[in-house]
Amino acid sequence: MTISGFNFPTPIQFGPGARKLVGPHLQERGFKRPLIVTDKGLGALPVLAEFKTHLAGLDVAVFSGVFGNPTCNQVMDGAAAYKAHGADCVIGFGGGAALDVAKVVGVAATHEGDILDYVWDHPQVRPIVNALPYFVALPTTSGTGSEVGRSSVVSENDTHLKRVVFSPKILARTVFADPELTLGLPAAVTAATGMDALTHNIESYLSPAYHPLCDGIALEGVRIAAAALLTAVREPGNLQARSDMMMASMMGAIAFQKDLGAVHSCAHALGAVCDLHHGLANALMIDTVMAWNYEAAPAKFDELAHVCHIGGDGKGFVSWLKQLKVSVGITGGLASHGVKPEHLPRLIEIATADMCHQTNPRPCIASDFKQLFEAAM
Ligand SMILES: NC(=O)c1ccc[n+]([C@@H]2O[C@H](COP(=O)([O-])OP(=O)(O)OC[C@H]3O[C@@H](n4cnc5c(N)ncnc54)[C@H](O)[C@@H]3O)[C@@H](O)[C@H]2O)c1
Ligand SMILES: [Zn+2]
Repeated sequence: MTISGFNFPTPIQFGPGARKLVGPHLQERGFKRPLIVTDKGLGALPVLAEFKTHLAGLDVAVFSGVFGNPTCNQVMDGAAAYKAHGADCVIGFGGGAALDVAKVVGVAATHEGDILDYVWDHPQVRPIVNALPYFVALPTTSGTGSEVGRSSVVSENDTHLKRVVFSPKILARTVFADPELTLGLPAAVTAATGMDALTHNIESYLSPAYHPLCDGIALEGVRIAAAALLTAVREPGNLQARSDMMMASMMGAIAFQKDLGAVHSCAHALGAVCDLHHGLANALMIDTVMAWNYEAAPAKFDELAHVCHIGGDGKGFVSWLKQLKVSVGITGGLASHGVKPEHLPRLIEIATADMCHQTNPRPCIASDFKQLFEAAM
């Protein structure tokens, strides 16, 4: 046996109203000039204006230049906003896109060069050596769990290839997870992000890596998301369902320290080539990939069926996933979401080169990705 390391480091304040703790938290630590990093959509919504009313006494600036699958330029613009404000800390407020940018604005503001110089697989990767600004995170979607993760996913400006800055140093110092922030999330975003959270829990549980702690979190995350997602979509004001989804989202991201699988490799390719939303891309692939994965881990699929209380065995779990997608409003295959046959070669190339499928329960090569993408069309 080998020696394994386990780490669950982020302090989390979880529950309705947790956003109101941010102002006092920062003031107690002597901070005066936070920069809120958020996205264009949220920048114009009352949910952000309301949050700012709880930051009285602080000199707050807002950078709301994040949109779509965020690019390197957006990070550099955020760093310029940080310096222009003379900020002393960063508040990430938003979905995975805004939080991923918020996580590395501090790196770009305190280090030389371009943020892409810091992605983990850069041939001359620069180390993060300087002290980073204090950073707190407030998720406003329940999907990526980026608030508790050590990665920031940033796309190249021109190719839109997703690159990852990975470092425990970019972890939020405290997460304020307030499900009230998600009460206004539209049904389509609730569905797509919720499917992302579910996918993280499922793929990390199925990963063959040795991490029983994460396996436990992932299975419970699947159980919670399976029970809450449909209600969160159908009853947007249901605070219990919103709380459950926010918790399942964080559990998924904590569990995927253990790594993900082939669904995410496909989703990363679909984001790069067709600019599909990450959660939607996962949702469009998950049942196809899981049907193909089944034979590699039937006992684990039985366990997934068990925690979802769907009756039947692991094969029933795959059918249940397919039905859940339709119930939450995600219908049609890749073709009906803008993916064209001419995209396939590039999709296959990017998915095959992606790291995530290395921990898929069934080994996956280019011809398998071809089959999976074609089946999901
Ligand atoms: N760091 C990680 O570990 C990790 C993991 C998975 C995905 N990601 C990244 O996260 C991003 C996707 O994040 P996401 O799924 O949260 O979507 P998102 O951040 O792109 O947000 C989706 C949309 O929802 C809107 N929105 C967010 N909160 C809202 C609210 N409370 N009310 C109304 N509208 C709201 C946003 O304005 C946006 O238009 C991708 O860039 C992906 O690469 C990161
Ligand atoms: Zn994901």
